[in-house]
Amino acid sequence: MLELKNICYSVKENGKLKVILDNINFSCEENEMIAITGKNGSGKSTLLKIIMGIIKPTCGTILFNKKNITNFDISERAKLGIAYSFQNPISFKGITVRDLLNISFGDNNKTVNDYCEILSNLGLCAIEYLDREINNKLSGGEQKRIDIASVLARQAKLNLFDEPESGIDIWSFDNLVNIFKNIKASNIIVSHQKKLIKQADKILILDNGKIIAFDKTKIVIPTLNENGYCKKLRSKNG
Ligand SMILES: Nc1ncnc2c1ncn2[C@@H]1O[C@H](COP(=O)(O)OP(=O)(O)OP(=O)(O)O)[C@@H](O)[C@H]1O
Ligand SMILES: [Mg+2]
Repeated sequence: MLELKNICYSVKENGKLKVILDNINFSCEENEMIAITGKNGSGKSTLLKIIMGIIKPTCGTILFNKKNITNFDISERAKLGIAYSFQNPISFKGITVRDLLNISFGDNNKTVNDYCEILSNLGLCAIEYLDREINNKLSGGEQKRIDIASVLARQAKLNLFDEPESGIDIWSFDNLVNIFKNIKASNIIVSHQKKLIKQADKILILDNGKIIAFDKTKIVIPTLNENGYCKKLRSKNG
């Protein structure tokens, strides 16, 4: 359903060209879950932003259900069924949790039960949160949960989650893992957490803007270790 062909992204910094993503090629099939992992600064968030259309690639092509969407903006991609959850959720001044969920549901006639179903999955009580404004008075973990809830309410064809685990306490983490396990859509999830990565069908590892592994989870997992990503595969692939 999603195909990235020869995607690269570079910026000019102090008059020098800085390559952030270098010749990225991969596909995500219908109902497939791909976990993207790799060291800080390896280009994971940049890659998700390129898929969502938040930034434009310097070269390469993106196909969604065989349609060339490389020049589509964020809202055109959203209309096609791509949803995105930020690494650091943004505040929406004057917008309440109820408003955000209504935008995601595309419907203003939802009942408290509808909100409750989606928020309680994420450990939030609807009654307590629906009329709260989405600003920094919410804790980091609360903002992250509301952001994930708004993506789930979209029922998109392809969900992009950037570190959904960040800010989520260890007591709630297993519940979050279960949520991802049960989403009926394609999902591309950036994560540093092995427990979450293990749920994916495939794992993609980025290193310095390049893909150093992209394969079935059971093949990639044994190569991950505490001291760095994918040592064996790296030496195998030169
Ligand atoms: N517009 C830009 N100008 C200069 N450097 C940039 C720009 N955008 C991203 N970078 C750099 O590109 C690299 C990749 O950034 P990115 O946010 O994609 O990393 P990441 O893999 O998501 O890291 P983390 O695990 O810390 O979230 C970083 O070194 C970042 O500083
Ligand atoms: Mg990131």
